[in-house]
Amino acid sequence: MTARGQNIGQQRQGQQKQDDQKQMDLVRDRFTRTAAAFADFALVDRVAEAEHLLNLIAPSGNERALDVACGPGTLARTFAKHVAWIAGLDLTPAMLERARKDAIANHLDNFRPLRGNALAMPFPDATFDIVVTSYSIHHLPDAVAAIREIARILKPGGKFGLLDMVVPEDASRAAACNHIEWVRDPSHTRALPLSEFESLLNSCGLRILARGTEDHPRSLDVWMRTAGWKRGDAVYEDVRRLLEASIPGDTAGFRPKILAPPSPKEIAAASDARPDMELLHTAAFLVAQKQQ
Ligand SMILES: C[S@@+](CC[C@H](N)C(=O)[O-])C[C@H]1O[C@@H](n2cnc3c(N)ncnc32)[C@H](O)[C@@H]1O
Repeated sequence: MTARGQNIGQQRQGQQKQDDQKQMDLVRDRFTRTAAAFADFALVDRVAEAEHLLNLIAPSGNERALDVACGPGTLARTFAKHVAWIAGLDLTPAMLERARKDAIANHLDNFRPLRGNALAMPFPDATFDIVVTSYSIHHLPDAVAAIREIARILKPGGKFGLLDMVVPEDASRAAACNHIEWVRDPSHTRALPLSEFESLLNSCGLRILARGTEDHPRSLDVWMRTAGWKRGDAVYEDVRRLLEASIPGDTAGFRPKILAPPSPKEIAAASDARPDMELLHTAAFLVAQKQQ
């Protein structure tokens, strides 16, 4: 390579590092502010999803496991009862603090929340029998690097369980969907369509054993609250406007609808009498095995 080529390569690497650092700062800032509301939601509403992933992976009980970007321990607290030991890795101290408190309250002595970056995990190659992650890849600057890193720390024959929102396969709907997600939460980078997740796992030497999707209806008001926004906030209003505009032709793939109007009594009592909206998130469950 020429000296100029080397120089350009170094500049690109430097820029990438700066971008990754910016994204990590954004994540820590957003999830520090919303840790309490997010944990209250995830530790209740995602129990069934954690159990579904657990059943697909079917641990024997002797495994060493890891929950990547564990947040308040959403998957780890369910898996802890079925494996020998599980660590939870996350960037945001406020999330880890909540995970620690929840583990103590539930006597989960074999769950250790740890601070760290999913893109450069502090573990040697082939450390874990099971690695799981939920609703995290769409907050990372580089999905390919993240899955490669997960494949690195898995033992050959080890299993990877992925749970994440997926966007429509249609590129224009996918872009509109990602845009609305980003307006709601600027730490959202890009959610992938299911087919892209599948090729990504395959290209990282992870052979898919099970796959499935589930639609989850969400109240707009509750969804916005877990991101720290309420009616009247500029971000709430922007997201609502974008969602309403996407109803004809479902141009962002959320299949949104305006719910039944409130009763006259509720209208009289409320300062904002607009009905709530409903949208659908599609969650993908994928289980894959690292090739021997
Ligand atoms: C939407 S929350 C999901 C938390 C949990 N897995 C769940 O399903 O409820 C995303 C989490 O990813 C964490 N996160 C984002 N980027 C990360 C990174 N580079 N390394 C580690 N954790 C990260 C955030 O701190 C946050 O706790």
